Amino acid sequence: MAPRSIGQQFIELASVDSTNKYAAEQLALRKLRHGAVILAHEQTAGRGQRGRVWRSGGGLDLTASVVLMPQRMRVAGQAVLAKMAALAVHDVVADAFRQAGLATGPVRIKWPNDVLVDRRKISGILIKNEVVGTLVQSCVVGIGLNVNNTDLEADIQATSLRLETGREHDRRAVLEALCDRLEAWWQRVEAEDPAVGQAYADLLWSRGRFAEFQLDGEPFTGRPMDVDEEGRLLVEDGEGRVQAYGTERLRFAPR
Ligand code: BTN
Repeated sequence: MAPRSIGQQFIELASVDSTNKYAAEQLALRKLRHGAVILAHEQTAGRGQRGRVWRSGGGLDLTASVVLMPQRMRVAGQAVLAKMAALAVHDVVADAFRQAGLATGPVRIKWPNDVLVDRRKISGILIKNEVVGTLVQSCVVGIGLNVNNTDLEADIQATSLRLETGREHDRRAVLEALCDRLEAWWQRVEAEDPAVGQAYADLLWSRGRFAEFQLDGEPFTGRPMDVDEEGRLLVEDGEGRVQAYGTERLRFAPR
């Protein structure tokens, strides 16, 4: 079996503004190879989706960026990278649940790439792709996973592995497991295996159930059904019509 590519190049930083920003800078300098992992024990300016700030407990949580360099991925198919990242994080959380004797059913992927436990967010993923012509040249997958943080309790919308399983987790072991799962999904992505899209759809939060959205800024109710190859959410409205929406038009209503 080929050696694991994810994590072969490993950069560990005590503190950095953002691992995603650091990765982008190092990529521009051509210092990173496919599979490079940048781990920071503290981020001073972590970035989230839609320009939001990502806060994590220094020394408590996992903040890391992973560099992927697809061989021949067309821009139109780049959503599979977000799917594989969410699946890998899901698997790590689900494994921790299994080890704690907990059911994994509540661990779901909320489109486009949050990992939730019921309605509580345990991980956020921020992806930035570098495109040359029609091909994705590189991808920085930034992953924030709440591991040992217990300071989230006041905020009932967030949770951590520790809060859910009732025990502390070794962040190094969590990162190892994450690299293993990323590698497994990466192999399927490279093989263009439809299992990636299928697994993602099967784990979709609120799939088949009516959920509240904002569509072009207006309230909208619909049932998430699937996510297409372009990463658009297929939503069925009250009349049974299914339409595909991208993140620029559709978002889940704030909880
Ligand atoms: C979200 O808003 O849900 C996405 C959060 C992504 C956070 C991670 S932490 C590691 C990487 N570096 C960043 O600045 N952001 C991502």
